[in-house]
Amino acid sequence: MRHLIDTTDITVEEVDRIINTALDIIDNREKYSQACKGKKLATLFYEPSTRTRLSFTAAMMELGGNVLGFSDAASSSVSKGETVADTVRVLGCFADIIAMRHSREGAPLVASHYSDVPIINAGDGSHAHPTQTLTDLLTIRREKGRLNNLTIGFCGDLKFGRTVHSLIKALSRYEGINVVLIAPEELRLPSYIRREVCDKNNVPTREVTTMEEVLPELDILYMTRVQKERFLDEDEFERLKDSFILNSERMKLAKSDMIVLHPLPRVNEITRDVDNDPRAAYFRQVENGKFVRMALIYTLLEWAKEAPETSQTPRLDQNMVHNDWRCSNRQCISNWEDMDRLFHPTEDGYRCAYCEARKK
Ligand code: NCD
Repeated sequence: MRHLIDTTDITVEEVDRIINTALDIIDNREKYSQACKGKKLATLFYEPSTRTRLSFTAAMMELGGNVLGFSDAASSSVSKGETVADTVRVLGCFADIIAMRHSREGAPLVASHYSDVPIINAGDGSHAHPTQTLTDLLTIRREKGRLNNLTIGFCGDLKFGRTVHSLIKALSRYEGINVVLIAPEELRLPSYIRREVCDKNNVPTREVTTMEEVLPELDILYMTRVQKERFLDEDEFERLKDSFILNSERMKLAKSDMIVLHPLPRVNEITRDVDNDPRAAYFRQVENGKFVRMALIYTLLEWAKEAPETSQTPRLDQNMVHNDWRCSNRQCISNWEDMDRLFHPTEDGYRCAYCEARKK
């Protein structure tokens, strides 16, 4: 059974296959209109979402399938204290595939260890958001015609922004990628991503403090929202929330074919006057999200048919179990529910298998 928990659970070839399927769907909508007839998708959203949940729903409907689920943990048995493990075992009796969003990092990985049906991570805390990454990759393919030889600037909240973490992981597997990080000191990219993704894959990466100094060289500017809900200190959020604002004046510095991406929702990091600029691709990006989720659901259900047996993901390896250790990340699911504590060895010590926090 294949799941999509992290961007790197699928190979570059498999990513290309999903993107090509999405492109085929765009050109041949009718051909796929009954592709998932009789199948059910469960959307388990423990954390607020508009786009992602509705885009999964629209995707399954356009494939001729049905959707069930909840959009608010308070209205489910979770409020009675049910664990993620039990919830997915139950839902697997009703649905053929599950999309899960959770504020605790690693929750979808836990779900995948217990599920008889494919699990899709629809965003876990500040950790990862692989279906947004597929959306971003499809958008880049459609807008720029390629996924290699690109200079991409990530701007805003690179610390808590899970879409950035997942996209950097995905792009680092392509040739000729240059990464520029534009963030205030307090919201810098987590160092493990810089080291273990950028440095390890020899992706030239640099950090700058102003947008102006890099805009002229970017092929893509990836804007992000400062993630208010992840701050422990409200004053700090207030101080940082307007760190970087893209407006039409600044757009004058950019190349004529640079594109602006944003996973949305936007708050005020892109002013309204940019929306009419043809380089603003963020609303086209939303529609690509539906097509790529159609391709993903279709592909995971095909893979489940080919290899239906429940096999544990490679990450659940008995050598990784350290039940006497605790993850140092308060937001890690392993600190909230009863489960085996898993850590894997890396070059600089052990890392939690659920949320990737380093063992202190
Ligand atoms: C993003 C998310 O949920 O991480 N939104 C989305 O899925 N399109 C970005 C955000 O919330 O800022």
